[in-house]
Amino acid sequence: MNWRKLRIFLLTVLALALIPATRYYQIDAPLLGYLKGARAVDPLSLHLAGEFVENNLGTEQGADGSVTVRMIAQQYLFIPHCILVPAGVPVHLRITSADAVHSLAFNGTDYNVKVLPGTISEAQLQFGNPGEFKTVCREFCGAGHYAMRSELKVVPRDQFPVLRVGERGNCAAQ
Ligand code: CUA
Repeated sequence: MNWRKLRIFLLTVLALALIPATRYYQIDAPLLGYLKGARAVDPLSLHLAGEFVENNLGTEQGADGSVTVRMIAQQYLFIPHCILVPAGVPVHLRITSADAVHSLAFNGTDYNVKVLPGTISEAQLQFGNPGEFKTVCREFCGAGHYAMRSELKVVPRDQFPVLRVGERGNCAAQ
């Protein structure tokens, strides 16, 4: 292979390598979705469609009594702003980001969940006693990072509202 051919070869490789960089939604996003399987989520669909549609956020109780919390992290808030969960019950958290990388933490606990756009982060939480925890972002995510605060209320199990199918628990219901 002479230098001319090598140069053409390298330029071709470079041109091909640049395609994914300019075709994020055509190439990268579907590829990442395929690789990540069920944990993939389109950040542009949040609030509007799918699992993270507005009225599916918050605390959901399954028929078997299991508790799932769905949240969205975005610059610079957590949605819903106040989460209500029962004490002494395992809580399955599912959260994703609408924009930057965030990290959901509850002050006074060891929980710290990294949240990335395009993927669903899952965690198993359990709070032994009733109380109120400040929910904070622990990953620098921009100018409003230090104001990215919300709340978690843990109520005694028998004070947690009985939720109908499709109903979501929130702090106002308490
Ligand atoms: Cu979100 Cu820092």
